[in-house]
Amino acid sequence: MSESLYRPPPVATHQGQPLGRRARPQSAAERLQRGITLVLRDDYRHGVAVLSALVKALRPPLETADYAAKQAYRKAYRDAGWRLLVPIERGEIAVPGAPKIGFLAELYPELERFWLPLPEVRSLSWAWSQYVDGVKLAVLGHSLHPYYGTYLPKRTLHLELFATWLSRWSGARDRAVDVGTGSGVLALMLAKRGFAEVTATDVNPNACESVRRDLARRSPRPPVTVIQTDLLTDVSGAVDLIVFNPPWTQGPVENLLDRALHFDDDVFERFFDQAAARLVPGGRVVLVFSNVIRLVQPDVSHPVDAELSRGRFTKVDVLTRRVKPPRDSPRPARRTRERVEVWELVRA
Ligand SMILES: C[S@@+](CC[C@H](N)C(=O)[O-])C[C@H]1O[C@@H](n2cnc3c(N)ncnc32)[C@H](O)[C@@H]1O
Repeated sequence: MSESLYRPPPVATHQGQPLGRRARPQSAAERLQRGITLVLRDDYRHGVAVLSALVKALRPPLETADYAAKQAYRKAYRDAGWRLLVPIERGEIAVPGAPKIGFLAELYPELERFWLPLPEVRSLSWAWSQYVDGVKLAVLGHSLHPYYGTYLPKRTLHLELFATWLSRWSGARDRAVDVGTGSGVLALMLAKRGFAEVTATDVNPNACESVRRDLARRSPRPPVTVIQTDLLTDVSGAVDLIVFNPPWTQGPVENLLDRALHFDDDVFERFFDQAAARLVPGGRVVLVFSNVIRLVQPDVSHPVDAELSRGRFTKVDVLTRRVKPPRDSPRPARRTRERVEVWELVRA
């Protein structure tokens, strides 16, 4: 099982220096920035303090900063922060004070001893606590237990807007597909709203594992089947409704997790080609989207507009809601132009 799941690449050997017990976090952060690899061994919290010092030194951009500034910061953090290594031995972090992370034994069963960058260990630790404790989603009325590497939205306005759309849907409820299911939230909403059969797809094996495990927790088991595939490739038969909450902006995709947020290929053209071939007459495509692409990437064509101009689909409706500004927005002009959108399209 774990062989096919995504996991942070293990470091088998390194030329790192031990992070001395007395090393000041600021000077350790400077060494990381200079390209020196450090290995944590005495105190887990010391490593966390070094990462905090690194963040401070790199001056993270505000939530409202532009895309390029955020990308530059992420790259600088990645370059330096990933040089702080943590030893892992037999599925445990071999550093006093470290948290227990059950994913380590699950994801690296064949490795006795290896190292991971501390930022990756922290992501695994955060993911483990969400997986164990669950995350309550009001639109579902219960918690999900996302597996490591599964996208779970931080904001839920778009999910609420989809719930509004779904509550108004009066068409057939025989079969729906949730493309790019992530944590499975939309698939579970569809099942809850009475769809007899829901297929959930994702390219990310961890997302598929996550949804399968969450389905197994529920009783009665919702009528959702999970398929790991690109878009609708392995989905056969006719469908009443195809839902897709795709990545919202164009950007670099370096790993499977980036694919939740960015697209770097013709994903929308392929999606609409496949959707057009599978919908029953009068069936709908519903895209959960945002105008963020128009705001931050005005040179990139809007994927729904691009498809509508091809003439295969027509717009039935589009619901929109204004997004509340981030907390660090400058006062007093606390306004945002960002809106979430739910597009309903029908085959022309
Ligand atoms: C923005 S997330 C949405 C997740 C979930 N549906 C939700 O609403 O929270 C996009 C999801 O699409 C998946 N994805 C991206 N490209 C895909 C593709 N070509 N085929 C299948 N899934 C894809 C990603 O792995 C990710 O889980």
